[in-house]
Amino acid sequence: MYLALVSLVLVYFSGWILYRLFLHPLHKYPGPILAALSGGYQAYFNQIIGGEWILEIERLHNVYGPVVRVGPNKLHFNSPRAFHDIYTNGHSLRKDPGMYTHGVATIASESAWAATDLQKAKYRRGLMAPLFSRRAIVELEYTVQQKIDKLLAVFEEHYSSPGSTIEMSPAFRSLTTDIINSYCFAECPDTLDYPDFSHPLVRDVEKLFSAFWIQQSFPWIVSLINNGPAKLILWLLPQFQGYVELKRRLSRQIDDIRADPDILLNAEHETVYRHLMEPKGKDSLTKTELLHDAMVFQSAGSDTVGNSCYVGTFYALKNPDIARRLIEELREAWPDKDKPISYTVLEKLPYLTAFVKETLRFSVGVIHPLARQTVVEMSAVFMHFNPDVFPDPYVFNPDRWLSEDIGNMNRDLVAFGRGARVCVGVKYVSYNRIQVFSQHELTRSDCLRSLAWCELYLIFANLFRKLNIQLVIEKDMIEEFTADQRLDYFVVAWRKGYRVALEKAQG
Ligand code: HEM
Repeated sequence: MYLALVSLVLVYFSGWILYRLFLHPLHKYPGPILAALSGGYQAYFNQIIGGEWILEIERLHNVYGPVVRVGPNKLHFNSPRAFHDIYTNGHSLRKDPGMYTHGVATIASESAWAATDLQKAKYRRGLMAPLFSRRAIVELEYTVQQKIDKLLAVFEEHYSSPGSTIEMSPAFRSLTTDIINSYCFAECPDTLDYPDFSHPLVRDVEKLFSAFWIQQSFPWIVSLINNGPAKLILWLLPQFQGYVELKRRLSRQIDDIRADPDILLNAEHETVYRHLMEPKGKDSLTKTELLHDAMVFQSAGSDTVGNSCYVGTFYALKNPDIARRLIEELREAWPDKDKPISYTVLEKLPYLTAFVKETLRFSVGVIHPLARQTVVEMSAVFMHFNPDVFPDPYVFNPDRWLSEDIGNMNRDLVAFGRGARVCVGVKYVSYNRIQVFSQHELTRSDCLRSLAWCELYLIFANLFRKLNIQLVIEKDMIEEFTADQRLDYFVVAWRKGYRVALEKAQG
């Protein structure tokens, strides 16, 4: 009996191995045998080693060529044409439920971001659209400026004494957290007021990303935390503490606005949630949908812009010529720095625009390959560091954006994704109508209609116009944001950080 059982198991596993290696529809594509057999191959690099899957994918492309079987049912591409086919031309390809509903998105499986059904995603994006229109961005840019003013005031108060230095990553992420909360709820958690930029909300979002790969492999852990012995699970897996705290905080906020929608109607300015709460009856969003969208806004809206500011600032300080040209252009366009400047003026400045684009290229945005059914995927890294389109890709060089022919570079700058599921923080979507970029549609003015761009222009302009900043690199700090420094925690995480010293700029 025992022998029969063992033989049965052996036959089953042998059949399973033979199928995946020789009969599976993807069996002809090259790649490591272990990856063809199990998703555990990817899990090993992201979970056990920690965020290094992207480095392994780069290695696999060097060995196997532009198309690699990176999982039993998954192909990863390294070719700009494939990227545009998957995301832009193939915009009807659905998000892969394996990744979005059961995988990394388990904690926000009912968000607009995780929606795999195209009609549903279109409806949900349509609800958010008014707040990401050009009109709304321009009307609400003062809320972005208010938070930047606050950051500069905190810098001057606490960090401008001789010898004091500051870690910029949490400073930028506190800034973007306050901006996105104001944009969503007209309610600011004032994370910028917290000592050392270590407000629990900012820390919780950071921890959320550190637990990403555990929930990818074991999505049931999230249900256990929500419906079972949460305390025990959190004791065993403290990485999920951030998720629990964030959910508790946002849940309270959603309960409040559902109980009294007038909170939003009487708010100081228009908000994303006023629009999300508008549909009534059968069209209204459930509490879980509202909560899951809030989880996505907190993370997608803060970590991404924060990371871009972090990388761009580093390179402006590391290359004095870049900082000098930024400051000269800003001085000319903004002679009296004590008067406010508008985003619509800043977006016309050629060098600042080139600098923002180079920053978006270098900082990548979402580093993890975005899986689309059947399952095909490609990480933006392979677009942004492709030497055929961006010569010397590991040199941070805003000048590349000032040359005559930047059509291909504009086409292949994909920090915000592409197609029907492009980032809402960048894409202007008219009511209930999804616009899809084609190569010809991707003009400068299209690119610039966005909250994310507005934030980047205003933050960099204020920083370099109003402060003198010096880079401080000490032992064990980052010297270059090179490929081996970036880790895949869905968004980019850097192995090492840097600090700066700053003082108020004269003139
Ligand atoms: C530098 C800044 C940003 C970058 C690089 C960025 C990048 C991206 C990328 C690559 C995607 C596609 C993800 C996927 O397909 O799974 C995305 C989606 C999204 N982003 Fe952003 N993002 C940025 C800022 C923002 C901001 C400020 C918001 C504000 C709310 C935001 C909200 C969203 C949402 C809601 C989605 C889901 C859209 C959908 O699935 O239809 N992002 N973002």
